[in-house]
Amino acid sequence: MKKAILAVSFGTSYPDTLEKTIAATEQALAAAFPDWEVRRAFTSGMIIRKLRQRDGLRIDDVNQAMHRLEEEGFTHVAVQSTHVMHGEEYEKMLAQLEPYRLRMQVRVGMPLLHAESDYAAVADGLLKWLPQPEPDEALVLMGHGTPHFANAAYAQMEHMLQAQCERVLVATVEGYPTLDSVRQQLAKHPAIRKVILAPFMLVAGDHARNDMAGGEGSWKAELEADGYAARCVLQGLGECPAVRALFVEHCRQAVQALPQGGKLWGVGGGPGDSELLTMKAVRVLRQADVVMVPDTNGPEKTALNIARHYLDGQEMILVRTPMVRDRAVVDAAYDAAAGQICALLDQGKQVAFLTLGDPTIYSTYMYIHERVQRQGYAVEIVPGVPSFCAAAARLNTSLCQGSEPLLIIPASHSHEELLDVPGNKVFMKSGKAILELQETLREKGMLDGAAMVENCTMDNERVVPDFSQMQEPSGYFSLVIAKGGSV
Ligand code: CO
Repeated sequence: MKKAILAVSFGTSYPDTLEKTIAATEQALAAAFPDWEVRRAFTSGMIIRKLRQRDGLRIDDVNQAMHRLEEEGFTHVAVQSTHVMHGEEYEKMLAQLEPYRLRMQVRVGMPLLHAESDYAAVADGLLKWLPQPEPDEALVLMGHGTPHFANAAYAQMEHMLQAQCERVLVATVEGYPTLDSVRQQLAKHPAIRKVILAPFMLVAGDHARNDMAGGEGSWKAELEADGYAARCVLQGLGECPAVRALFVEHCRQAVQALPQGGKLWGVGGGPGDSELLTMKAVRVLRQADVVMVPDTNGPEKTALNIARHYLDGQEMILVRTPMVRDRAVVDAAYDAAAGQICALLDQGKQVAFLTLGDPTIYSTYMYIHERVQRQGYAVEIVPGVPSFCAAAARLNTSLCQGSEPLLIIPASHSHEELLDVPGNKVFMKSGKAILELQETLREKGMLDGAAMVENCTMDNERVVPDFSQMQEPSGYFSLVIAKGGSV
């Protein structure tokens, strides 16, 4: 599972307010969700074009950002917009996200003003953060306004603000209420002689600088012409900590609504005895939603036999791991198995992959483990008792003592030069070539004290304490311990 937060804003072409509002909100999201990659997208094509042409700055629109996340293998995306309300820009964003919901897990956080509690939190946070109006002063907030019915949010916002401070008015540049509404309200309170103007928009961009605080025709100029003393706050809502906190909270709801990805456990099943599993291995097997067991097409199905002791109706999947040397065939099988596991993890399932012995010792499981981990999913290995430890235990002998080194040698591969390295040796998976190994050890004078164990701790176990006496070949799970002395 690769997870990202896409922070979607209308955008602004003013770098300073961009930093203080949009980037600051994105940073708050990154701080609150440290395991998540936070990306940026703007909904305003006009602003994206302007930033590219003027500053050479490339900013994705929603479609581009989602496309890139998908290409990079992200599977879970929480989208948090910094829009003030559920209006046109927000709906445009929802429509752009729609096709991606088919291929990725996507959840969308609410805009700033959604629930009643959001209005209360904004009213509270804003009045604490903005300069407090003096007794003969009104605080006038300039919202953007929209022909969308979401515009009614401004009236509700004003209502909530006035519950805390009567001398707060909300109006909009492009919707209702307007500057004329403000004038009518102010006219009803002749004691008010001054106004504070502040944007009720995420950024302090064009509208704040020009329509609100600019020259002729601006709200400041108009109100001054009416005889009010006017001062302006050129700070966007994104600079207010309570506003950023609310976006983080809304994003948290989106994050929590995303299906939790599962986890892959590589469980060491030990040498074959169903009592030689760790307590952790047993717990993980029992708690898993799906247990996967390698299917080597062999008659033994050893891991399967071990698993049967501990399974309780969980789904079990046999994984084909062909025992051939053809890299392409083997890789294709691992890719298929990893893909199957990732799909289960995306559904939030806990997957236990049971492997014989210990997963870190010559186990095909690790090829699958690495593939799944590379995709960004949670993985964990539960160690198991290795077969050579079980064999040494069966033989009542040590593997190494004092200064003796221990060499683990996969006997099915060429290992001539390793025989001359001093130290005790374990030859694993000798199988059909075991009599050749016997001959080689005899030539090297290493046969004395060498022992063989086949199918250690399993029902068909065979122990040959004196390997030199062995006459006939053995099966795949055969292991020879040869003592090679101290260094
Ligand atoms: Co505008």
